[in-house]
Amino acid sequence: MSRSHDRLSARRATRARLPLSGRGLLSAPASLARRLEHAEALDRMARPLARAVGRAVPAGAQADALHGVWLGQPVHPVLTALPLGFWTSATVLDFVPGTERASQILLALGLAGALPTAAAGLADWSALHREQQRVGLAHAASGAGASVLFAASLLARVLGRTTGGRVLALGGLAAITAGSFLGRHMAFGLGAGASHAEPVAHLAPLGWHDLCRIYELPDGRLARRQLGYLTLAVLRQGSDVMAVADQCAHLGGPLHQGSLSESPDGPCVTCPWHGSTFALTDGSVVHGPATAPQPAFDSRIVEGGMVQVRPARPAQ
Ligand code: FES
Repeated sequence: MSRSHDRLSARRATRARLPLSGRGLLSAPASLARRLEHAEALDRMARPLARAVGRAVPAGAQADALHGVWLGQPVHPVLTALPLGFWTSATVLDFVPGTERASQILLALGLAGALPTAAAGLADWSALHREQQRVGLAHAASGAGASVLFAASLLARVLGRTTGGRVLALGGLAAITAGSFLGRHMAFGLGAGASHAEPVAHLAPLGWHDLCRIYELPDGRLARRQLGYLTLAVLRQGSDVMAVADQCAHLGGPLHQGSLSESPDGPCVTCPWHGSTFALTDGSVVHGPATAPQPAFDSRIVEGGMVQVRPARPAQ
């Protein structure tokens, strides 16, 4: 066997023994984010803070606005583009002679954009799972740290300490980059903000399918029924049957265990986990934190009282 082959095998064996965090610099941030998920010590701060946010922004129109129910997707990631864009531009302009005034304006705009961004982020964060909240706490701390550094940078420049202001801006950029990484870990790694009912569209069989006999469904109460791989939350009201995917679009809570209410547009179900409310007629979001609609099913009753369902087309 050649010497180079021996060296290659030895390198592979060493790599296999190394823990994930030891594989290189590039894997270190991901490894840190995963460790944050399990940092139970953060719960001491996260729980009271989540309760305080819940008290400050109770369920209702204001919370819905912050979550992005009106937009059909979480509003926090959209707003994040404002401070991130302004502050990055300001820091880049610091390397372009004669643009100090423009940098100061961009820093101020970033600070103005940071406030609604933080408010929307806090509202979303207060209705997350524990692991997501732990990472979210570090994400928020990075954002707050960046805001302080950019504010200090602006102040230093206004006071004529331009070089110091530029150094502070570089620190702010580092903090906001770290915070952005953690935010993406929450979204892509932990599914915060994504629709947890999205796979339903791929799992629901096309066309009409037998669900159960109508007399097997309790009248006026939610029931759980299986349709192939899918679990549905089903409500019978007399001879009307309404069905939506059981897994809540927000974070997968069991809607069949939710509570029922009436709205002008018909019956609604409220998720037992974080209170998202969906219209049972078409799955549309009535209240957040969910922003994506709940997949709904058309129903009909055929011979022998058999209830059949099929995926409903999204409302136009
Ligand atoms: S899982 Fe959060 S509201 Fe349903």
